[in-house]
Amino acid sequence: MNKVDYLRISLIDKCNFRCQYCMPNDAELSYILKQELLTKNELLTLLKQVFIPLDFTKFRLTGGEPLLRQDITEIITEIVTLPETKDLSLTTNGYLLEEKAESLFLAGLKRINISLDSLNANTFDRIIGNNGKSRWQKTWHGILKAYEVGFNPLKLNVVIIPDINHHEILDLAELTINKNWHVRFIEFMPIGNSQLFGEKAWIPSVEIKEKIKHKWGLQEANITGNGPAEVFKIPDSQGTLGFISQMSECFCDRCNRIRLSADGWLRPCLLNETGQINLKQALREGINTAEIREKVAQLLLIKPDINFKERDSGIETYHRTMSQIGG
Ligand code: GTP
Ligand code: 5AD
Ligand code: SF4
Repeated sequence: MNKVDYLRISLIDKCNFRCQYCMPNDAELSYILKQELLTKNELLTLLKQVFIPLDFTKFRLTGGEPLLRQDITEIITEIVTLPETKDLSLTTNGYLLEEKAESLFLAGLKRINISLDSLNANTFDRIIGNNGKSRWQKTWHGILKAYEVGFNPLKLNVVIIPDINHHEILDLAELTINKNWHVRFIEFMPIGNSQLFGEKAWIPSVEIKEKIKHKWGLQEANITGNGPAEVFKIPDSQGTLGFISQMSECFCDRCNRIRLSADGWLRPCLLNETGQINLKQALREGINTAEIREKVAQLLLIKPDINFKERDSGIETYHRTMSQIGG
């Protein structure tokens, strides 16, 4: 059985973007009320008394957009100073990095994953849901700022969508040649939005790889990470290229993570709502943490049976969008 030691922690379900693949336009989102969010102290109690004793050592902060959380720097410092923490990272849309990258770095965060689906401002705005002003430039400056303050590795997540940004594959891959940036191509997952981009909504990683290989060649490579990306590089480039192929290649059998939602639900599988437990409610009802830990230990035992298995039946049984789960 695969060791599950990676916890993805969603800090907030709100987001300042509306990426079509993550928060579909017609989704009637109702946000978690502030008093229902897990507080910093509740989160730390769960880490110290539940997850770390169960051998969790790798943590990722996600959203929605985690930089919208006011206490983000304090949360980072508290987690990195736990002696058991081996790795802490954060996934962001980058929009607030221009002003926040330095304080995040000083708080102790050393690596970061940033979504960037296009180098073209119009395409970018179309994907993220234009709210009247272009947000490409500020996001780009945020990425540059994160690089400048020293985040390493700095990964850029690209969801490739046919007829929207697939013609930018080579331009995005090229970013890794002269910069120590790590671009990852992610197959679009039709989570709760299967009709969004029509029938052929995702491009298999193998096609993207071939395109890049044809132009520059590709060799195997490595980069720090806990996720499912397969890593390569263009020969002599500074950065790497990752491929996350959840649609064309099932990696559920090597799943090493579980997810904690911003309102305290522990979710054993991204693609499945079976088995969730409400840790916040347990804490607030005064259930002791040894008992909560036992419940989580039981959940970990049955996780392999919950991990997504019915790939061909369609991913339709969702109540939460990606923004609410944290990717
Ligand atoms: P690293 O530790 O840097 O490798 O991070 P990561 O790739 O785990 O994290 P990130 O938040 O950047 O996630 C990138 C993408 O991987 C997400 O958008 C998801 O599409 C995909 N992904 C991550 N975890 C899972 C998972 O458990 N199942 C599936 N199907 N996809 C996942
Ligand atoms: N399919 C694939 N990736 C997605 N992300 C959000 N929604 C989807 C989806 N439907 C990605 C974002 C972000 C990461 C956490 O999840 O691009 O980088
Ligand atoms: Fe927000 Fe990230 Fe979802 Fe885009 S992918 S809407 S940036 S949570």
